[in-house]
Amino acid sequence: ATAADPYDLVVIGGGPGGYVAAIKAAQLGFKTACVEKRGSLGGTCLNVGCIPSKAMLNNSHIYHQTTHDLKSRGIDVEGVKLNLPTMLKAKDKSVKALTGGVEYLFKKNKVDYVKGAASFASPTSIDVALLEGGSTQLQTKNVLIATGSEVTPFPGIEIDEKQIVSSTGALDLQQVPEKLVVIGAGVIGLELGSVWARLGAKVEVVEFLGAIGGAGMDGEVSKNFQKILAKQGLKFNLNTKVLGAEKKDGKVHIAVEGAKDGKKSTIEADVVLVAIGRRPYTEGLNLDKIGVEVDNRGRIVIDSQFNTSVPNVKCIGDVTFGPMLAHKAEDEGIAAVEYFKTGFGHVNYGVIPSVVYTHPEVAWVGKTEEDCKAEGIEYKVGNFPMVANSRAKTNADADGFVKVLAEKNTDRILGAHIIGAVAGESIAELALALEYGASAEDVARTVHAHPTVSEAVKEAALMASSGKAINA
Ligand code: FAD
Ligand code: NAI
Repeated sequence: ATAADPYDLVVIGGGPGGYVAAIKAAQLGFKTACVEKRGSLGGTCLNVGCIPSKAMLNNSHIYHQTTHDLKSRGIDVEGVKLNLPTMLKAKDKSVKALTGGVEYLFKKNKVDYVKGAASFASPTSIDVALLEGGSTQLQTKNVLIATGSEVTPFPGIEIDEKQIVSSTGALDLQQVPEKLVVIGAGVIGLELGSVWARLGAKVEVVEFLGAIGGAGMDGEVSKNFQKILAKQGLKFNLNTKVLGAEKKDGKVHIAVEGAKDGKKSTIEADVVLVAIGRRPYTEGLNLDKIGVEVDNRGRIVIDSQFNTSVPNVKCIGDVTFGPMLAHKAEDEGIAAVEYFKTGFGHVNYGVIPSVVYTHPEVAWVGKTEEDCKAEGIEYKVGNFPMVANSRAKTNADADGFVKVLAEKNTDRILGAHIIGAVAGESIAELALALEYGASAEDVARTVHAHPTVSEAVKEAALMASSGKAINA
């Protein structure tokens, strides 16, 4: 693109937010380029996040089931061995297939893929330091910033990605550590802690707060989830503050202090996973130069139409406000591009599902009980246990429950929370119900196939609307 023939849109960042936005823009007729500096498309999610973690979660679950669960199902296996190098290769293969898939989609939709690091020369010209060497400048009418996030460092604990790791190193450990200590009982800590516990590590989790699961998890769900994970061998130290860590004699010594009683002690580990959150990433963008406003937590400030403080520059995904989730970034990407094209777009922030991909999975959408109380909303609860669901029971995979919250007077669904083997799939139905403003009775009167775990959703909705379930 030249000054005489500029791009309609340059997207900075090829993660789930940026790549989806670029494809949508091209589909709407925009001349579009996407700049990505990683050397592969798909961002954090496809390269070092959602996808490799789900590969490791799935395969470590199969291994754990094979060694702990098959006998009672009438399947005798002998000589089961973990082949970690092959498991890691299988993970790398799924990453490669998906990142390659995005590159194919760019070609198919005629998005120009520019490999390099972007920085603003002006709001309409983007300098790119090319990965192959040299540089170029792209002229454009509009820019979408989708540069994502990075690991929040722990002051004083240096990540070497071998012995003291972030999620990236924890997805690529070359041997199972005897003892893994996880700092932070959020989503990453619980998912990757589960992976290594299943593969044989002793896992101890240190969490500053009094509950696991990070922000947004319903209190009752969090308590039950903790019990289930403890049964699986994860040890939790809640209300515990990490003071520092020191490498000594091949181990890491982690100094901790009780957040309430101030009692100090040391935990020894072979490997430490630091998982205390992620922070917005804007390094090298040159935001100061063009005057894009950033808040005190490093997030790019946007309005309800994704506009930054600079005209024709919008922003989406992890680098701005809201939950750091791939599907949130994707839907924002589409809406932002629609705003560029038509002046209209929409993301319903009240209906963004969350899923923790442990076994069982934990999933939720909408309000928690704590939210309802804080907002003074009168609500009803339908709570149906998985042990009363025929499919879960028959599969001998019946940990968990479905909890539906509905407004007391109108029966309108306010939120839903599931612990269960397929909670991540089951939550989609309740997200749709919430999006359409359904009542609990609407879901309860919808025919659900038998025998499926989805009947537990129907029963919880029935209980919320009428006070009684059939099978419990
Ligand atoms: P990113 O995916 O971070 O992409 C931004 C891209 O921009 C990067 O590739 C970066 O290289 C590039 N970039 C940055 N600056 C520049 C520049 N100046 N020039 C060119 N390119 C640049 N979310 C889920 O919804 N489900 C999950 O199961 C899940 N699992 C996760 C597991 C782990 C271990 C981690 C770490 C995260 C997980 N997430 C998950 C979160 C998810 O990865 C993010 O929410 C998502 O990737 C955000 O998308 P994004 O497009 O905003 O940013
Ligand atoms: P998180 O915000 O989910 O959890 C961090 C946890 O660390 C919190 O419980 C917090 O209280 C605790 N913590 C913070 N400082 C601490 C300290 N000094 N000592 C002890 N504990 C401390 O962040 P996490 O797990 O790092 O994940 C980052 C992001 O990645 C999340 O926001 C999530 O949105 C995303 N993600 C999503 C997944 C999914 O959707 N399945 C999977 C993995 C990550």
